[in-house]
Amino acid sequence: MKKSMMKPPISRMGGKSKLRKTIIEMIPKHTCYIELFFGAGWVYFGKEKSKVEVINDADRELINLFKMIKYHAPEIERLLEYEFSGRDIFEEYKNCQVEYLTEIHRAIRFLYLISQSFAAKGNHYGYKVTSKPAPHIFYKNELAEVRERMRNTFVENLSFEKIIDKYDRKESFFFCDPPYFETTGYCTEFSEEDHILLRDKLKNIKGKFLLTINDNPKVREWYKDFNIKEVEVHYSVSRSAEARKNYGELIITNY
Ligand SMILES: C[S@@+](CC[C@H](N)C(=O)[O-])C[C@H]1O[C@@H](n2cnc3c(N)ncnc32)[C@H](O)[C@@H]1O
Repeated sequence: MKKSMMKPPISRMGGKSKLRKTIIEMIPKHTCYIELFFGAGWVYFGKEKSKVEVINDADRELINLFKMIKYHAPEIERLLEYEFSGRDIFEEYKNCQVEYLTEIHRAIRFLYLISQSFAAKGNHYGYKVTSKPAPHIFYKNELAEVRERMRNTFVENLSFEKIIDKYDRKESFFFCDPPYFETTGYCTEFSEEDHILLRDKLKNIKGKFLLTINDNPKVREWYKDFNIKEVEVHYSVSRSAEARKNYGELIITNY
């Protein structure tokens, strides 16, 4: 029987859970796999391992979490045993100065904030009336599996353009899932200039890229010289039924 795809240990806004099968089927032959905007890493965790892998995200706390999973998984699991869902605790974690926490505690704080907030955004305490609090981490006792998955992986914490400069080779493949154009919500804002910079960088690479982005006339214009495939995805971004929508999404490649 075929092994089921691994799931990420966290949830994150904009995660590619619904589209990952399509994306994975489109990955070309490569030696080095680079994910420029890691988030929860749905594609990385779902695909077969490449020879060399690189995961990058500009969010320092997110990358710290994966670093801590890599080095201190049992300790994270031990500490999570003592956490429970509470508004005070949520506010305390949200407002505390991370500089005063150890790296392990920063990882716990990050997990707590995304697992106990609405839509994993980390800003409002996510109470509910129809289901119990979310577990702090989805696959408890499976962090060892995550750590094993990350053995061949370089973990980076830079802005995307620096990663392109460092890792671009003929055999490199970049999977790019930037924040949607004209949407907000991450700790780092992604402006129109950032989108243009990404396009300019991707235009000139030696390797291959696959980009996923929301369907928008400007985006189509920026990438008109590349292969553009349209896909429909159903994502629930909020709890209210009205907010559940079908989004047109584009998969753009240079191969
Ligand atoms: C759409 S999410 C990626 C979702 C991911 N593919 C998944 O399956 O969960 C975009 C990510 O880009 C990160 N980001 C924002 N600006 C960035 C930048 N300039 N360089 C690298 N990462 C950035 C955000 O922190 C966020 O995690």
